[in-house]
Order: sequence, then structure tokens, then C-alpha cells
Amino acid sequence: EKGGFETFMLKEIHEQADAVAETIADRTVRPDGVDLPELDDELLRGVKRIIVVACGTSYHAGLIGRYAIEEWARVPVETDVASEFRYRNPVVGPGDVVIGITQSGETLDTLAAMRLARERGATVIAVTNIMGSQATRDADATVYTRAGLEIGVAATKTFVAQVAVMYLLALRLAEVKGTLDDERRTELVTRLKRIPHDIGAMLERGTEKIDLVAERHYAKDFFLYLGRHVGLPVGLEGALKLKEISYIATDAYAAGEMKHGPIALLDQDTPVVVVATDSPVLEKVISNMQEVRVRGAHVIAVVSEGADLGEHAAEALVVPQTDWMLQPLLAVIPLQLLAYRIARLRGLNVDQPRNLAKTVTVE
Ligand code: M6R
Repeated sequence: EKGGFETFMLKEIHEQADAVAETIADRTVRPDGVDLPELDDELLRGVKRIIVVACGTSYHAGLIGRYAIEEWARVPVETDVASEFRYRNPVVGPGDVVIGITQSGETLDTLAAMRLARERGATVIAVTNIMGSQATRDADATVYTRAGLEIGVAATKTFVAQVAVMYLLALRLAEVKGTLDDERRTELVTRLKRIPHDIGAMLERGTEKIDLVAERHYAKDFFLYLGRHVGLPVGLEGALKLKEISYIATDAYAAGEMKHGPIALLDQDTPVVVVATDSPVLEKVISNMQEVRVRGAHVIAVVSEGADLGEHAAEALVVPQTDWMLQPLLAVIPLQLLAYRIARLRGLNVDQPRNLAKTVTVE
């Protein structure tokens, strides 16, 4: 049932091209737009504010969705972890759209946050991978990810599928609201449709470089992750993957915040994973890499194909070029694989890490 792979997690990492392809398939038939018949155009046209609630990896997908929705559709978005949202007497009500992202559709905190929002008059949309799950019953509408069943406790293919749904939502919203011209929408739809191919090509190329980096650092006891803009949630997700399956302490920070504290953690040994793919903020990211380098710490950078970051990175993990907003779908993959290799080198059970459950139905 592992299809020739040594673990479910590795199999699921390799199913990510399909997870994205299935999720966008019939929703990207028009060259210049997205169809999401699950969502009423009237609802989308009227939305003034969006709040995303989720836990763990699903929360990171929400963070990426925030950048895309705000940039393309110019609708303000808040993202909150469900267990915080539900206990802060949130200001939410009619006119708000609350999106609950939960691959299982059964995470108790996320369900409670969605219910609270609905009681207060918000319209609630569920983004889930499981047909008929509780989230679909608690929501006004559901947009499914189509990643197929995920068995590994560490979310991988469901994450890229969630991120793809957030892009679809953002593009649909932008079309309904008229905030992106036809040309830009066409470009984004074209780029999104190419992502499954890009993921496939990247995985086919093999993991030699990642294996080397893993071998060099697997015995370290701390990793710092840095990113800006959509690179930040990618860093957060990379850090979560590493801590949950390898039990190595990690911290993930907005690169611009490094000077405000975490820089004190750096010494000669510290591996610092930097998401440094092409984007309008790359120059800023590079100066953060320099700050790391002068402290003698070790920069492992995720970079776009063809970019030359020279000596700024000790090790570079290359991902294909795409639109900068869509980059998380590619940039997260080397970080999943790095966490995976490190956990395996430490001899751990990656499919069932200690203390963790696939679905968290308690508080
Ligand atoms: O089923 P959900 O998406 O609601 O699950 C949320 C989290 O429990 C989940 O993403 C968790 O953080 C994973 N173990 C991450 O790999």
C-alpha cells in the first residue's frame, strides 16, 4: 500500500503533483479565470473581510492565502489559529466570510471556531480533504481539496492542495470583484496549471543535494528558518515539519525580525534555512542572509532556478521558476524532504511521530 516507497510520508510527498493537478483540474478550464461553483458570486462580490481559522499546517496554508487574496482581490484578510480565535471574543458577524481550513474536517478547535463565527452571523466556508466530514456539515459551503487520503501524520500533499485552493479562491474573488485585468489572470492561471509539471520535474531530478545537506546537519539540535512575504509561511511549515518528525528544536521567523532577537541564537554551528526564491523582496532576504553569514552560521537557501546567490548561501536547494506568489507550492517541497531525510537519519518513525495524532479531536 506504500506503492514501493519506504514510508507513507515519502509516498505522499511524491503524490503532490497529482494533489495539485486534481485540486485545480476542472476549476481552471477557462484560460483567464477560475470556476468555483461551490461559492456564490453574490457572496463573493459582497465580501468585505475574510478571516481564516485553522491549526498547524492548515494555518500555514491560510497565511499563504492571505497574501494572495489581499494582493489579487484587495480584500482584507486575517488569519488566526483556531484555538486563539475562539477564546478571544472575536469581532465577527454578518458581512464577514470565515474560512476554516482543515484537511481532516474534524479538528475540534477549528470546528469550534467555525461554529462560533456562524452563530455570530458570518458566512462560513470549509476547505477540507474529507467528503462529508464534520466541517462540511458546519459550513455554509465547502471547497474540497483533492489530495487523496493522507496517512502520514505530517501533512504534505494535503498542504499543497490547500494552498492551491487558496489560490483558486483568491483568483475567483479577483475576477468577481474586477481587481485583476484579464492578462494578469490568464498569466496566473497558466502558471498555476504548470505547477504539477514543475513539482513532478523537481521530484524526478532526485534528492542528492537535499541528502547531502541532511547528512551534514542531522545531528544538530537547533535549526532556524527565515522567510519574508509568502516565504515566511513556507519557513514556518518547514520548521514544523522538521520538529514534528525529527524532534529537533526549530524556530521560524520573519527575516526582518531576526535583528530583534533570534540573531542572538546564531553560532558557528547553527543551520539557518532561508527561503530565498525570486520575489520583489529577494534583495532584503539576501541582506538577512549576509547577517547570518557574518555570524559564521550556515545558510541553507531555497533558491529559484537560474538565480545566482553566489557565496550568500553555503548550500542551495533549487526550485523551478514560477510566479512569486505561487512559489510556496514549489519551495515547500525541498523543506519537506529535508525534514524527512533528517528524521530518517535519526532513525525515527516519520509516519507516526511520538505524541502526535493525525486528527486532533480534543482540545
Ligand atoms: O486536519 P487538520 O488540517 O485540521 O489538522 C491540523 C493540524 O493538526 C495538522 O496540520 C498538524 O499540524 C500536522 N501534524 C502537521 O503536519
